[in-house]
Amino acid sequence: MPSFANLFGRELDLTHRYAVFGQPIAHSLSPRIHALFGAQLGIAVDYRAIEAGRDDFAAALAAFARDGGVGANVTLPLKQDALALCRAASDRARRSGSVNTLLRDGDGWRGDSTDGIGFLHDLRERHGFDPRQRRVLLIGAGGAARAVAAALVDAGVHDLVVANRTRERIADLVRRLASDCVFGCELDKIDQLHDRYDLIVNATSLGHGDDAFELPRRLLGRDTLCYDLSYDRAARPFLDWAAAAGASRACDGLGMLVEQAAESFSLWFGQRPDARAVLAALRAA
Ligand code: ATR
Repeated sequence: MPSFANLFGRELDLTHRYAVFGQPIAHSLSPRIHALFGAQLGIAVDYRAIEAGRDDFAAALAAFARDGGVGANVTLPLKQDALALCRAASDRARRSGSVNTLLRDGDGWRGDSTDGIGFLHDLRERHGFDPRQRRVLLIGAGGAARAVAAALVDAGVHDLVVANRTRERIADLVRRLASDCVFGCELDKIDQLHDRYDLIVNATSLGHGDDAFELPRRLLGRDTLCYDLSYDRAARPFLDWAAAAGASRACDGLGMLVEQAAESFSLWFGQRPDARAVLAALRAA
């Protein structure tokens, strides 16, 4: 395929492709977000959504690379599998055991994780929440939870309780974080927690099903921020619980989604787009 110089003198190689992999993926906003970033910066971005589950992800990623794929995002439920498929990975990806951004490097993939930094950007800049010395309850121990947990520990939280349905995943995450401010709790024993938290984060994929979300109301303090890492319908059960329980502040993860995408975009293209403008456009749509 030929390559063309655009008006700004930048070489656009039209064979370069980008994508987001996950399951389900049809309603992903990532293709739209990256198209908006590209429009902002005058970069033509070929970015599509590719449906792949844990069984067919490796084959789908190999086919994508053969087809000119040079960069990808990875979402539920593939973030841990993505790390295993990388030849090299950043420290933050290895520490969280999770990859959401892939960069083609020779004939292999390099992995990175922009979820944690995207979450912290949104938390600090949009919600005015400084995690230093705060008490945090994190529900879930999957790929997104791991990245967020590592970012919160690095940001200096007072303590972080990780509550998850499956005990082995809690132990794995607590071990990986290797910090004496991190504690584990099985989700069905959450009644045994008696503290109030400054921040409660839902990092489970429960909202993608039909289950209701229920936590003890006493975990909420007067100013607790309830934050769901998902958006749209998937964030509803947690946000409904937060509203019913009287939380004063609650938000979905759309801000984090756009911020982590902006970080991925700058890893691929060397320029950071304006996440605020894109978030405003998505909220308005
Ligand atoms: P992601 O990459 O988005 O984090 P994931 O790695 O598949 O996705 O993790 C999903 C998380 O949601 C896990 O913490 C999972 O709990 P388990 O470790 O026990 O599987 C949690 N989860 C999914 N459905 C749930 C449900 N119905 N109730 C409680 N937790 C649930």
